[in-house]
Amino acid sequence: MDRASVYLETFGCQMNELDSQLVTSSLRSLGYRFTTEPDEAGIVLYNTCSVREHAEQKVWSRLGELAIRKARQPGLVVGVLGCMAEREGEALIQRMPVVDVLVGPGELDKLPTLLDNAVRTRASLADLPEARTLSDTPAERKPDLTLLRSAGAVALQGNTGRRSATLAAAADTLEGLDLSRTVSPEDHAGSAYVRITRGCNKFCTYCVVPFTRGAEVHRPPDHIVDECRRLADAGVLEVTLLGQTVNHYRFEHGAAVTIGGVIQPQKGRVYASADGTRRDAYAGERVTTFADLLRRIHEEVPAIRRLRFVTSYPRSFGDDVLDVIRASPRICRYLHVPAQSGSDRMLKLMNRGYTIAEYMEFLHRARAALHQPEIGRPLTVAGDIIVGFPTETDADHEATKHLLAQARYKNCFIFKYSPRPGTVAIDRYDDDVPDDVKRRRNNELLALQQQISASVSAEYAAAEVDVFVQGISKRQAKVDRRPVSGGGVSLTVRGRTPDAPPDHIGADADCGACTTVATAPATRESAGTPVQLSGRTDGDLIVFFDCPTGRSPDSLIGSIVRVRIDECRPLSLHGTLISGR
Ligand code: SAH
Ligand code: SF4
Ligand code: F3S
Repeated sequence: MDRASVYLETFGCQMNELDSQLVTSSLRSLGYRFTTEPDEAGIVLYNTCSVREHAEQKVWSRLGELAIRKARQPGLVVGVLGCMAEREGEALIQRMPVVDVLVGPGELDKLPTLLDNAVRTRASLADLPEARTLSDTPAERKPDLTLLRSAGAVALQGNTGRRSATLAAAADTLEGLDLSRTVSPEDHAGSAYVRITRGCNKFCTYCVVPFTRGAEVHRPPDHIVDECRRLADAGVLEVTLLGQTVNHYRFEHGAAVTIGGVIQPQKGRVYASADGTRRDAYAGERVTTFADLLRRIHEEVPAIRRLRFVTSYPRSFGDDVLDVIRASPRICRYLHVPAQSGSDRMLKLMNRGYTIAEYMEFLHRARAALHQPEIGRPLTVAGDIIVGFPTETDADHEATKHLLAQARYKNCFIFKYSPRPGTVAIDRYDDDVPDDVKRRRNNELLALQQQISASVSAEYAAAEVDVFVQGISKRQAKVDRRPVSGGGVSLTVRGRTPDAPPDHIGADADCGACTTVATAPATRESAGTPVQLSGRTDGDLIVFFDCPTGRSPDSLIGSIVRVRIDECRPLSLHGTLISGR
């Protein structure tokens, strides 16, 4: 076991993936090494997700396994980062004393200090004889929480996470973590996430995110544009902007004057804000909207060949944003805009703030502005649905089927409702849809979406598409991971390989777009079979194609190539490389 080597596993959404990248780069700069083999690591970190119970269960079971290992290796340091750390708080350490460090998503900048503390403390235990029984190890004792806090093992936002957006912005120490991001060409395969908004203010009744990620804070546009520029300088071609309601980005310049550390709103003017409500403006206010931000990145960083954003909220998606996308050749024509249900009654109970008529009005408006297959620029749309929300009837379920048929998503993540502690829904409504009904409805929606995805996919028959090559396909990566002549193949974290079906439909998987995938170095062709590469179109459709004989797959990964589509499957296109770098 190497005490300075770190194994980091990421669960959950793209926000978490980005957080893991930032944590990796900050720990690396301090001399930590990273490994993809948990058993070799002296430090095991889980960056966790709380969005559904299933996501948390995976982490509990990993922690259970680590407790057994720690009995043999008391020097092992275990850290739980992210949304589950924030949601569970110190109770997590009480239940799993194997955990040494607990850091919420709003406090990740504190991780290096906490880890350093833990490594030093654990180092004194490391010389204990190995192979002890579980019952006589320190990992078994219930920890004293006051001691934990004073020993600096815990960094959580707690209740302060829900302070007002203005105060949250003022106290936002996390900005430093994003700003200190170092990017080297080995860290990315041509693609990177850039956060534009932290937190969420929406409070959909089922959702933990506003509690784990805190109040909405919009990052200054200059920081975002600078980060995009630095990424482009390091060879990144594709940037995905991240926010829970990304289209609600709104940065008010000079919105606040700080006196003695306290924000002083400058009242005087009144204007209508993005969601239609009227509010006081601040003196000297100048605003950068989401449309302004997209335009700035597109104009000021032309080396970014693909600019994308997730996740869009169906309400207050202005024509100004659609106009900018239409006028900007390098902004992808892809929207991920979850509806969550096709029933107005459900949407109301979920506190989504729109009706299906309003949702469809937006989709029609977006398609009218952006769907131009005749010039090779179709618009593709992805969605999310929750089935079995409390009181959902067969009629509500039928309404959701109707919505899927109307919306024609290229893919849709379908999740069974999971009651989450701390949310309004768990307090207010019984989880009264039986699991077998949830499962049946889930399967029906998956089957319907499969047909719709197939028909969207079929439109690409014989088309030529630009594909951003992300890596070796998962199937191929598995082949490559098999030991070669008795030796192991070492893994490097390189391209993010798109999830293969059926995950991509969203069979109640954790957000399908969201697993960190390690692929083998792309150097070999196994026994004459060509290496299969995978990537995505501008509209986020998955494309597989064979790397031509004589070409090195590595030379294609991270570049944009032209592929002719030979076969259309519901969730993927298969083609032949026509041209590429
Ligand atoms: N901010 C995004 C979604 C973030 S969470 C938005 O509003 O669209 C990702 C998805 O997880 C959600 O779209 C929702 O479909 C699902 N989800 C969130 N909470 C859930 C719960 N308690 N049970 C089941 N699915 C849930
Ligand atoms: Fe959760 Fe709703 Fe915020 Fe999305 S918008 S993160 S579903 S509260
Ligand atoms: Fe999960 Fe937190 Fe993302 S709960 S979905 S990791 S914001």
